[in-house]
Amino acid sequence: MKRQTSFFGSLRFRLLIILIVLGILPGIIAIHAIVSSYQSMAIDSSTRQIRRDATVLAEYLAKRDYLSEPDQGQANSRLNLIADIHEGRILVLNRNFQVVRDTFNAEDGQIIVSPLVNRCFRGEIPFRHDSHQQTLEMAVPITSPEEDGILGVLLITASASEMADTLLALEQREILLMGIIAALVVLCSYFVSTILVRPFARVTKSIEDLTDGYQSGEISVRGYTETTLITGAFNKLLARMKVLDDSRNEFVSNVSHELKTPMTSVKVLADSLLGQSGLDESLYQEYLSDITQEIDRENKIISDLLSLVKLDKTASGMHIVHVEINTLLENILKRLQPIANMRKIDLFLDSFRTVEADIDEVRFVSAISNLVENAIKYNVDDGWVRVTLNADHQYMTIDVSDSGSGIPAEACEKIFERFYRVDKSHSREIGGTGLGLAIARSAILAHHGTITVDSILGSGTTFHVRMPLTYIP
Ligand SMILES: Nc1ncnc2c1ncn2[C@@H]1O[C@H](COP(=O)(O)OP(=O)(O)OP(=O)(O)O)[C@@H](O)[C@H]1O
Ligand SMILES: [Mg+2]
Repeated sequence: MKRQTSFFGSLRFRLLIILIVLGILPGIIAIHAIVSSYQSMAIDSSTRQIRRDATVLAEYLAKRDYLSEPDQGQANSRLNLIADIHEGRILVLNRNFQVVRDTFNAEDGQIIVSPLVNRCFRGEIPFRHDSHQQTLEMAVPITSPEEDGILGVLLITASASEMADTLLALEQREILLMGIIAALVVLCSYFVSTILVRPFARVTKSIEDLTDGYQSGEISVRGYTETTLITGAFNKLLARMKVLDDSRNEFVSNVSHELKTPMTSVKVLADSLLGQSGLDESLYQEYLSDITQEIDRENKIISDLLSLVKLDKTASGMHIVHVEINTLLENILKRLQPIANMRKIDLFLDSFRTVEADIDEVRFVSAISNLVENAIKYNVDDGWVRVTLNADHQYMTIDVSDSGSGIPAEACEKIFERFYRVDKSHSREIGGTGLGLAIARSAILAHHGTITVDSILGSGTTFHVRMPLTYIP
């Protein structure tokens, strides 16, 4: 048998995903955190250096009153020197945002109002890292102890390309490292998930190996508590199926045997009639009436089997009606009175109260009739049968007692099984197939009732039936 299984729906796939996520995510986060912290450290150290140089330069310019006299050769060469050291450019702005000096000599005399400059005039020392242009920009105020406030601003733009190169190399290494970790994690997760689900695969294999049905015993797989529970449940199911299978086999062999017996008798009787010529008419009559009896017996077995099969088909076919049970019991006894009379058996009905209940009339009557029939059949001549009816607000009880031969204790559990008869040889004389009590029990169970038996060997038997007054499907 080929099974439609999808890898993506499997436990193994889910485990794989969980392991991958758990394995890769922390690695990625850790590497990313390390790289970003190195980045900010590198920026910090660069800005510190620029700031130190710029502050010293600003103090020097203030001391020399550079903003008023920008044409000082020494100061200008110092400006150029610092700009060169940082591979960048320096602008010196006065109070009016006007460029007093540009080391690139491009914007002299221009007015520059940039956020950085504005913030600097407010007393901050702001800086900006432009990762795209690979520059670091910083504004430093020019102040003098003699004069109040900020006299001007030193705007320094330094190249950050060296730092950018280091960062790029670092990022490339980060990606490589992540790739290696991811590959390792996927590989490990694959093996770990395979190992983790192995016991489940073993359970499936063991179940599949039971090819010759449920006769080959139990399966046992050691693994997890879960697999032990699964195999335990499966073994229970197996045992139940074995019981069902056995009882089905027994039932089939019983049925065939029981159906064959009357046919064999008919065949023997017919053969003996055919084999002899010129027989007396009375002999013909006798043989033919025997044949009719056997055919009747065969009919009864077949109709009993059919009604059992019908009862087995759950309770869906129940025709529930609300009826008075007392009258129903009276009618059953009236119908069976002639058979009882033949052996001078007295039938009694004791009704303690009027009982009305929801029942399937056909099934109920067949159940009680079978009990009373048995009570008459397995009774002694001149004996008695007593049917007692009582009820409380929920349940009715019907007891069928007799003064008959009784049932041995060990047989009491078995008499409800199909075809079971206590004394085979004696029962054959009495007649019957052993289906009556099976039919009775199925009918009572279909009403959610119970049936039990009490018997004293040699003195009599009582069947107790208890059924709810209202039927709940
Ligand atoms: N009241 C009883 N007293 C003694 N034995 C009984 C009584 N009722 C049932 N039994 C025993 O239980 C067996 C099963 O009864 P059951 O009614 O199922 O079958 P049966 O009477 O043999 O055949 P039938 O299918 O015709 O009813 C009987 O063969 C009989 O041995
Ligand atoms: Mg019977």
